[in-house]
Amino acid sequence: DFRPIILAGGSGTRFWPRSRRARAKQVLALDGERSMIQRTLDRLAPLASPARCWVVTNDLLSDTICGQLDVVPEDQVVCEPAARNTAPAAGLAAFLIERTAPDAVLGMFPADHVIGDETAFLATIERAIAIAASGDNMVVLGVKPTRPETGYGYIETGAPYEGTAVRVRRFTEKPNLERAEEFVAAGNYHWNSGIFIWSAQTLANAIREHLPDTAPMLEEIAAAYGTPQFREVFARLYPQCENISIDYAVLEPRSAKGERYSRLYCLPASFGWNDLGSWAALYEHQLEQLNGGDARANVTESNGSLPIEASGNYVYSPKKYVALIGVKDLVVVETDDALLITTRHHSQDVGKVVKELAAQG
Ligand code: GDD
Ligand code: MG
Repeated sequence: DFRPIILAGGSGTRFWPRSRRARAKQVLALDGERSMIQRTLDRLAPLASPARCWVVTNDLLSDTICGQLDVVPEDQVVCEPAARNTAPAAGLAAFLIERTAPDAVLGMFPADHVIGDETAFLATIERAIAIAASGDNMVVLGVKPTRPETGYGYIETGAPYEGTAVRVRRFTEKPNLERAEEFVAAGNYHWNSGIFIWSAQTLANAIREHLPDTAPMLEEIAAAYGTPQFREVFARLYPQCENISIDYAVLEPRSAKGERYSRLYCLPASFGWNDLGSWAALYEHQLEQLNGGDARANVTESNGSLPIEASGNYVYSPKKYVALIGVKDLVVVETDDALLITTRHHSQDVGKVVKELAAQG
């Protein structure tokens, strides 16, 4: 009994100015024809029909998502009245499903990943499901780190478990650059892919344990599901839930209990994974597709382009001819009403623009 939960309520601020609140990257086709969330669902089809999938998103995105995912039953598209990050979002799904199917195995899938080898992806998920179904176990898919990325969680490998699965010795969410560099150099760390597999009951209990103030509110919301009071209860209680990601709320503190007790397992994944979390990540992904990854090439989405002594630039300006002369590692993104100019190195900071604009009203 496997139920994918697609988390699609992120604000996608790091893709400003292409993403706005009502068109975050999950609903954009940044890479190809189908949107990222449609591809997330397509990819899972061999393991779960859309009728078994749940989507947790927000009111701003709900119309677009319901339009794109008309195969998912409408009452399984849950629209948060306020964004509270992934712990309440995933937790709510767990409480909803726990009521009728506590042993159901849930898979949390971010809606914004690119997966290379889908057959290998499905095989890995199946193994993770088996581990999660065999007890009170939490399985995280790990990815081999290739750079000291500070936007990810890091999993320190512990004792072997079964097959290629290992225990998690320590989980560290978004370390600073110095620590990220240490982790990558050490060699026994994985990136957290953001894909988690655990039973509804295991996750619900973890939320009860680690977020004791939030859990009762989520339970009350889940109890009102399907009744005429649901909207009112959801709108009243959900904004009071703690605003925290599942990584900080559950994985870090759970891992601190020690690898023998935490029941946290990491299944290393080798299916080709990209979080597409920033313009720099999109550049790298498209580069790979274009020429196998020559790190100095330019990626231009434009109506023609001419680079002269220019390298490593990403330019999005679909209607214009773009000339690049003597510049490197820039990110330039043009939309009808905004122009972003930054460097690949700074592209994690694009979210700051959105924050600042929001503060200005
Ligand atoms: N419903 C809902 N509500 N979904 C949310 C919310 C929310 O408030 N906030 C984020 N999401 C969704 C996003 O749309 C995305 O699909 C997923 O949850 C992960 O959120 P991100 O905001 O993209 O997280 P991150 O990239 O900073 O970090 C996470 O993913 C990394 C790998 O991609 C962490 O799990 C890291 O440890 C991990 O390495
Ligand atoms: Mg992300």
